[in-house]
Amino acid sequence: MPDLRTNLSPVSELAIDLDRNGGDALHRQIEASIRQRIRSGALPAGVALPPTRPLAAELGVTRGVVVEAYAQLVAEGYLTSRGGGYTQVASTAAASAAAPRVRRPGPSRLPRPVVDFGYGRCNLAAFPRSAWLRSVRRVLTEAPDERLGYLDGRGAVELRSALAAYLNRVRGTSADPERVVITSGYAQAVSLLMGVLAARGARTVAVEDPSASDDARPIAQSLGLNLVSVPVGDDGVRVDAVAELAADVLILTPSHQWPTGGMLSPQARAAVLAWAQRTGALVLEDDYDAEYRYDRAPIGAMQGLNPDRVAYAGTASKTLAPGFRLGWLILPRELVEPFAEAKLLADRGSPILDQLTFADFLSRGEFDRHLRRMRPMYRSRRDALLTALARQLPEFQPAGIAAGLHLVAWLPPDLKEATVIAAAAREGVAVAGVSPYRLSPAPRGGLIFGYSNLSERAIADGITRLARAVSGLLEGRTHWEDGEHRQE
Ligand SMILES: Cc1ncc(COP(=O)(O)O)c(C=O)c1O
Repeated sequence: MPDLRTNLSPVSELAIDLDRNGGDALHRQIEASIRQRIRSGALPAGVALPPTRPLAAELGVTRGVVVEAYAQLVAEGYLTSRGGGYTQVASTAAASAAAPRVRRPGPSRLPRPVVDFGYGRCNLAAFPRSAWLRSVRRVLTEAPDERLGYLDGRGAVELRSALAAYLNRVRGTSADPERVVITSGYAQAVSLLMGVLAARGARTVAVEDPSASDDARPIAQSLGLNLVSVPVGDDGVRVDAVAELAADVLILTPSHQWPTGGMLSPQARAAVLAWAQRTGALVLEDDYDAEYRYDRAPIGAMQGLNPDRVAYAGTASKTLAPGFRLGWLILPRELVEPFAEAKLLADRGSPILDQLTFADFLSRGEFDRHLRRMRPMYRSRRDALLTALARQLPEFQPAGIAAGLHLVAWLPPDLKEATVIAAAAREGVAVAGVSPYRLSPAPRGGLIFGYSNLSERAIADGITRLARAVSGLLEGRTHWEDGEHRQE
């Protein structure tokens, strides 16, 4: 039998820090601290806790408070109470401490970013609230009761019609309302479509490299599909690699490659479509931000060139708000029915009031008006970013066409992506790297700058801070070349 006295846990080891100003009841705070120490393994099985009287004295509470806390933890099975008054950590509690723990990021010693170049957002402050509210009002006033019932798996016909008209006009698609299905954003579109294709015998899905492979990989895994990648060049996916590709479906961002920003030329589009036609594969065209082309009219969607071999996916996440969870697909005819069934099975359809409101908003020209307001704002932000990079970080090489809500800049070859991101964070700048989106390693690092949510002043400030971070690294470079310091 262990000598419990030698196991006595010093009071300080319990790490109890009482909040007497409106916190939880004192016994609950003591319980919570001890429970947490046991769960984390800091108090292993068999360790004896301090007797109640000295602990109470040290904490400045009555003994009854400590007794109550211990009793509760005994009742929960964290502690056992032994004859002689000692209270020990129970062995079952220790077993649970040994179980895998959820990894949480430790408390960050970095300041919160002053400038956050996070991507995948749009300017939420510019959401067209008044116009949206007018559409909500109209819909609620005018929609007959029956429109509030269960939905067609394709979605509300009003929205499918409005979207078909809008997309044919603006994106050069070949859509009729029968081929349009409404989804909860692109995320649901890609996941349900992969499921439908897998059920029809698809085995392999190809994605661009880099791409939003963090979306595609878990979907492929859960469906038992092989995931292969096709390299991306300056102008989008490399068609020489596509020509040799063996895949049932190829997910592409042809109008603005995500994240590198290249655009697939008309010749390259034709080559990809010829591959799809020859092999019977389907191209999933992810047209996630095509509304924003700043230097000229955007090139039309690939779907318009071959509606039988291309499924077109769009989303409201970059134009209205990602929290909307509204997206759409234009599908080859034979996929409409199975997709609509999958959608009904998944969630019985996307919320009807949002669909009807968006239909009203689109057909009254409010969506066009909203985009006409947003484009110059985003364009100025992108220009501010490019100007600041050219002035302060000329060694960084911006990539891609004048479009979208983010910009990739390639790093000079001797700067490591992770090192730059960490140095930027120390200067108060949050920026992401391209590497997490790669499937195979690449020699050159890159940063993804989202600019949609930042004022021009904030963008300039962010790049000044980043330049300071990078100059620190470049100064360090001479040291590690001398072998004095190791950078990583
Ligand atoms: C490549 C790409 N496709 C699509 C989307 C939109 O996804 P969702 O409609 O699920 O919000 C995003 C959003 O960031 C994206 O980066």
